[in-house]
Amino acid sequence: MGSGIAEVAARSGLSAIVREPSDDLLSNARERVSRSTTAAVTRGKLSEAERARLLDRISYVTDIAALADCQVVVEAVPEKPELKRAVFIELDRICSPTTILASNTSSIPIAELAGVTERPERVLGLHFFSPVPVMQLLELVRALRTSDETVAIGKALGDALGKQVIQTKDRAGFIVNMLLIPYLVAAIRMYEEGFATREDIDAGMRLGCAHPMGPLQLADFIGLDVTYEVCNSLFDEFKDSAYAPPPLLKRMLAARMLGRKSGQGFYSYR
Ligand code: 3HC
Repeated sequence: MGSGIAEVAARSGLSAIVREPSDDLLSNARERVSRSTTAAVTRGKLSEAERARLLDRISYVTDIAALADCQVVVEAVPEKPELKRAVFIELDRICSPTTILASNTSSIPIAELAGVTERPERVLGLHFFSPVPVMQLLELVRALRTSDETVAIGKALGDALGKQVIQTKDRAGFIVNMLLIPYLVAAIRMYEEGFATREDIDAGMRLGCAHPMGPLQLADFIGLDVTYEVCNSLFDEFKDSAYAPPPLLKRMLAARMLGRKSGQGFYSYR
């Protein structure tokens, strides 16, 4: 999602820096931006000249110190609380005191990340949706100590990126995943119990409710590892079985079936 966020920022005329910890990951990010912007040109969303300008506005680095003078840093590392906390500690150390630190977390309460920094008033959630260049929504999460000024800057940034900003308080899952996750969990349980085929479950919601993807396709698209981590955050927060990850989901992760990204999830993508 990080490369998608950088792409949208550059499309809106902002300069963006993509930071990955290794050259391999960095070249994957560059490749994703290249593929996505080529698709945008093919679909008539960008001209060739706009694409070239967009690509020029993104730089790619492995050294986190390159982020020191950014106005806003959006963290988009994997959905592991301890990893996100470590990134926030490092960003707080190297970034200018005026830099706003945002997390693209799907479900981890922002106060837990703000709490490891010396600038909790400058920390907020900016939760994008996948694929970032296509999806219109941005959830802006205000934690207990986020300042009015930080919220205003987050909202202005979302507007500048062309997103529809919705504001939410700081509870695991925010607005969207609090609604989406019980739905995905119910679909996985339905499949696990053999109540219906995966194709019929998905067709039911695609054709019966006009969703672009059925729930099992969507879980594969989000990534089953991400889905599992979001279930855990919500279950940890509310202790409600509607959020508990189904055993099948856990078994699939053990089998390295992560959805589209690994080539196999509820469906095969090989
Ligand atoms: N840049 C700009 N626009 C692009 C683009 C790009 N790189 N690629 C595609 N588009 C545009 C297309 O031009 C098209 O626009 P149009 O409707 O104006 O013609 C639109 O996006 C759809 O593109 P396609 O026709 O190529 O693709 P599909 O119709 O097959 O749709 C999809 C693909 C957008 C992924 C669709 O299946 C979908 O919306 N799926 C559901 C996605 C979803 O629910 N995401 C949220 C997941 S939850 C999440 O992220 C939160 C996390 O915390 C878990």
